[in-house]
Amino acid sequence: MAKLSPSLLASDFSHLADQVALIEEGEAGFVHMDIMDGQFVPNITFGGPVVKSLVGKTKLPFDIHLMIEHPEHRIPDFATPQTEYIVVHQEACTHLDRVIHQIKELGCKAGVALNPATPVSTLECILGEVDMVLIMSVNPGFGGQKFIPYTVLKICELDEIRKNEDLDFLIEVDGGVTLDNAAMLVESGADILVAGSAVFGAKDVPARCREFHEIIK
Ligand code: DX5
Ligand code: ZN
Repeated sequence: MAKLSPSLLASDFSHLADQVALIEEGEAGFVHMDIMDGQFVPNITFGGPVVKSLVGKTKLPFDIHLMIEHPEHRIPDFATPQTEYIVVHQEACTHLDRVIHQIKELGCKAGVALNPATPVSTLECILGEVDMVLIMSVNPGFGGQKFIPYTVLKICELDEIRKNEDLDFLIEVDGGVTLDNAAMLVESGADILVAGSAVFGAKDVPARCREFHEIIK
């Protein structure tokens, strides 16, 4: 069954622990945290201290999406006891192999994200080393954008590669995910759906998580 990873980017930042409790009540698989530095992407969100403040406030594992330049300088800040995945952008890593192993040495699973215009082929050499590939289905930096349809082809391509090469990385999709496209994304090969506004924009957040689960089970 595919899992839901609601993004806190669309939540009420003044009540973060309460917002996380809502998605835990809705039985989300992870809590997705978008870290933006104002360089790799235009916005700034939050950093290590905020992530650490949520440790122990929920049972949900953390899914940390680093949209930052030079992630190698900051990765230790995010390797909390509750962090399952740390995801870096291929476009931000000159030494991607080194960064992937840095994450693993800190006891976390390592993911790599691709912007919409970055081809899957850029990961050809590293796919055997990563635990997850995150396909950005919008240009990173903002919540509430429209899903870019051609990114589905990249999910299908990755799914095909992992079957053919007997690899076991998970595929995550992030950006513009809604109740309307969730089933199609899972059918295409996605294992984890990130949804920000489609979850936290709902009046009843736990009920919205359950609606997603009905579709992606
Ligand atoms: C965008 C972030 C996403 C964002 C998705 O740069 O990586 O995680 O929160 O938001 P929605 O689901 O609203 O597109
Ligand atoms: Zn994200």
